[in-house]
Amino acid sequence: MKMNVMGAVSGLALLVSTAAVAEPTAEVLHYWTSGGEAKSVAVLQEEFAANGGTWTDMPVAGGGGDAAGTALRARVLSGNAPTAAQIKGPAIQEWYEEGVLADISAVAEANNWAEVLPASIAGHMKCEGTWCAAPVNVHRVDWIWANAEVLAANGIDMPTTWDEFNAAAAKLQDAGIIPLAHGGQAWQDATVFEAVALGILGAEGYHKAFVDLDTDTLTSDSMKAVFDQMRTMRGYVDSNFSGRDWNLATAMVMNGEAAFQIMGDWAKGEFMAAGQVPGEDFLCISTPGEGFLYNVDSFAMFDVGGDDKKEGQALLAELVVGKNFQEVFNLNKGSIPARTDVALDAFDSCAHLSAADMAASNEGGSLLPSYAHGMALRGAQSGAITDVVTAHFNSDMSSDEAVEMLANAIANSL
Ligand code: GAL
Repeated sequence: MKMNVMGAVSGLALLVSTAAVAEPTAEVLHYWTSGGEAKSVAVLQEEFAANGGTWTDMPVAGGGGDAAGTALRARVLSGNAPTAAQIKGPAIQEWYEEGVLADISAVAEANNWAEVLPASIAGHMKCEGTWCAAPVNVHRVDWIWANAEVLAANGIDMPTTWDEFNAAAAKLQDAGIIPLAHGGQAWQDATVFEAVALGILGAEGYHKAFVDLDTDTLTSDSMKAVFDQMRTMRGYVDSNFSGRDWNLATAMVMNGEAAFQIMGDWAKGEFMAAGQVPGEDFLCISTPGEGFLYNVDSFAMFDVGGDDKKEGQALLAELVVGKNFQEVFNLNKGSIPARTDVALDAFDSCAHLSAADMAASNEGGSLLPSYAHGMALRGAQSGAITDVVTAHFNSDMSSDEAVEMLANAIANSL
């Protein structure tokens, strides 16, 4: 076949122009599939499109992101990594060590991330001094959510100690109301467990147990008391709890079938997406005890070829840390901005409480990473703890047995 000169020239021109104005594209793997989460991720999709980007959505359903983590691993191992994925905490550094992440330092430096992010959050986004992830928010994990009308009708105030929680739950149960909306999935058991642990162990004890993995703390009488409280709470859950998704548990609180849910503030995103008003329809209070368990969602970019994808990664990173996105996304998501320079005027009372408590706990040394949401430990260790927590919750295992199992599981995971 003969190619004429014109054909060769226009082919070349096409190549050159594609390279020069590569349109940003991104295939984004995430696990934001509930009502509130879908509204939140739509904000990002819209901003990305408004800036000339083409978004390919790869949602993997499953709260807490376990299924998304498995899907991501399969994609990367088969040499077909997505352009961006929702990963967080030490998993970012684990992926970095596998040599598969892209360096986004140029975007971070051009946009002054070091200035606008708190050092504690920035630390999670760095890999050997380079920027390897972009934070979108700060979720707080240690919350109790409640149906305002159900509490009022039963003469119950929001509990401020675990004893008060238990007394309220017993009263509600007598009144035929499910005290605790819960979904029996390992990550949800872990979510409740770490909130109880923070309250009973205190901030220092929590740190020793779930950051330092200190054996004495893991097997202490206080840790036995944590498992005792979990056993008590097992009695406040309805018989259909097994396997229930977290957002369906939130819906039980919304419709008054259940009174309380212990869940991170992505639950607030569900209440809000359903048009409910904090302080009126639903109430929020931090779980009993001092401290703040943080859970920062972020995106990491994978080292993929193609100018369009690289442009997409740069645009995505710039947008997610951008001021506008941080405000609008977090209004929907239930979290607060990761940036320190976003005004909270448009945010609700629960968000204000979160921001105030985060600042105070940062001062007081009780701002702590959530182990249940992958902020404190690497996967092997957090998985080992969660296996014990869920085995205990779903059996008649004693607290003595649970702490022994906990210490062994950690020892074997190291
Ligand atoms: C958390 C995540 C939140 C939310 C939640 C339920 O781990 O940080 O953004 O998605 O799981 O899936």
